[in-house]
Amino acid sequence: MEEDKVLPKHVGIIMDGNGRWAKKRGLKRSFGHKAGADNLEKLLKHIFNIGIKYVSVYAFSTENLKRSKEEVDYLMDLFVKYFTKKKKIFVSEELKVIFSGSKENLRNDVLAGIKEIEEATKDLKKGTFNICLNYGGRKELCDTVKKICEKVMNDEIKIEDINEDLITHNLYQDLPDLDFVIRTSGEMRISNFMLWQSSYAEYYFPETLFPDFDSKEFDKALLEYQKRNRRFGGVQ
Ligand code: FPP
Repeated sequence: MEEDKVLPKHVGIIMDGNGRWAKKRGLKRSFGHKAGADNLEKLLKHIFNIGIKYVSVYAFSTENLKRSKEEVDYLMDLFVKYFTKKKKIFVSEELKVIFSGSKENLRNDVLAGIKEIEEATKDLKKGTFNICLNYGGRKELCDTVKKICEKVMNDEIKIEDINEDLITHNLYQDLPDLDFVIRTSGEMRISNFMLWQSSYAEYYFPETLFPDFDSKEFDKALLEYQKRNRRFGGVQ
């Protein structure tokens, strides 16, 4: 990694390929998710140590609820375990953990786990880890429109006040725009991930399956990011 080159402030990761990783080894899909969770822990450590301030991951989309009950249950159990067991690590690494997504249709133990880890890490400042869980980009925009309409109806704001900044501040979380989005496993789609926040993001689609996307792979991705010429619609 070239240290003097600019780092992305906010990186998004669509963690794809857990199922295929397991299948390649003759294992059940759940083993792939467990391997993905183990990899995520190491990867986050690396990314925040480099000095990147914000990381958003796509852990579970609103569409993922259509998967088998067995897989959805497994993933929810995994999330609860992860939030409970890793809370101490996030605290010691000084990372603030936040969530983006809808609370509808989520199990009570998942909601309790979210609340607990958010509360325990809310004042931490080294970096922010945003977990998109039960998340859909279009749903986020619908929920934001509703939130803004309520503010207009309650005379907190006027229609004329609605602009891009106001929308950004009223999303599930008020985060800087995504600079760089990585989707592992060779799939080249964004699948409803942080649509508003990724308007000017650079994309990177490595073939590597998420459980194998380690710190070396991340550094390779970063080098690619640093070669890109970001023009934000202008001329340079
Ligand atoms: C997509 O791969 C992955 C998911 C739907 C789950 C992502 C979850 C984790 C990596 C677990 C850890 C996350 C946290 C926050 C603890 P896929 O199963 O669709 O893979 P496939 O396309 O190969 O079937």
